[in-house]
Amino acid sequence: MADISVKLGALELPSPVMAASGTFGFGLEYRDVLDYNKLGAIVTKGVSLKPREGNPMPRIVETPCGMLNSIGLQNPGVESFVGDLLPQVKGLGVPIIVNVFGETVEEYVRVAEMIQSTGAVAGVELNVSCPNVKCGGIHFGANPEMLHEVTKAVREVTDLHLMVKLSPEAAVIEAVSNAAEQAGADSLSAINTIRGMSINIETRKPRIATTTGGLSGPALKPLAVRMVWEASRSVSIPVVGIGGISTAMDAIEFIIAGASAVQVGTANYTNPRACEEIADGIAVYLEERDIPKLSDIVGSVEVYEDYTLK
Ligand code: SIN
Repeated sequence: MADISVKLGALELPSPVMAASGTFGFGLEYRDVLDYNKLGAIVTKGVSLKPREGNPMPRIVETPCGMLNSIGLQNPGVESFVGDLLPQVKGLGVPIIVNVFGETVEEYVRVAEMIQSTGAVAGVELNVSCPNVKCGGIHFGANPEMLHEVTKAVREVTDLHLMVKLSPEAAVIEAVSNAAEQAGADSLSAINTIRGMSINIETRKPRIATTTGGLSGPALKPLAVRMVWEASRSVSIPVVGIGGISTAMDAIEFIIAGASAVQVGTANYTNPRACEEIADGIAVYLEERDIPKLSDIVGSVEVYEDYTLK
């Protein structure tokens, strides 16, 4: 059997396939349909200091090859997460990465401190890329200086694996990638959704109550592969690829571009066993080509010799 385990810094995961934040709740909903042994980790829905009700409905709409969402980071708050949900999620026996959200640097720090103190979590994913909130999220991730500040502040209070989830709306992906690395991130996850819009031409109303929402799904994949390639060339920490991964071949494409592991998001809605099938398919791909381990193909893309634009 090919070895599909991955090392992200000091974090060792049995599989390269993680369930992406926001598409997998807190990990409990898929228990009856999915083999959790095939998951590298569960990345939880974003957790904030106080409970959040989220944005008004409608907040999800299907679009060609994807969907828009504007949930607004609905969650029960960190106290309830730690007290009520985490003990159950821990029982699943899968590494847990908590997606951490704040409106201010102090809020990110306080949530990270509470997560650290549980001793039950493998890592935090810093949500500096949600496009559906008035404060926090993308407002940190689009700006290298602010991204550096929040990452450094969280780094100071946790020795958990620190993954920073990048936004495709950052003007220069290399700049935010470097800022996160220099501030002490252990890995990057790329990419979160990009803002899109869909209009009902009869009512002339946007199909999302907040007018815009984050686009995810296969429509995003070429953009995400390009950004993973760019990010992975500019840092020495591992990059986790996200964006429209629905099949093992999609995942392999990200890995060849430079991803050390992947997250699967929107595909979970159409195929609740997507993560399992993708993990199995990655192993088959390696075995059929006599590639002993997944890390042998990370970043192995063979770009054309003279690929610079004229
Ligand atoms: C949301 O809750 O609106 C989406 C979360 C995200 O994009 O990070």
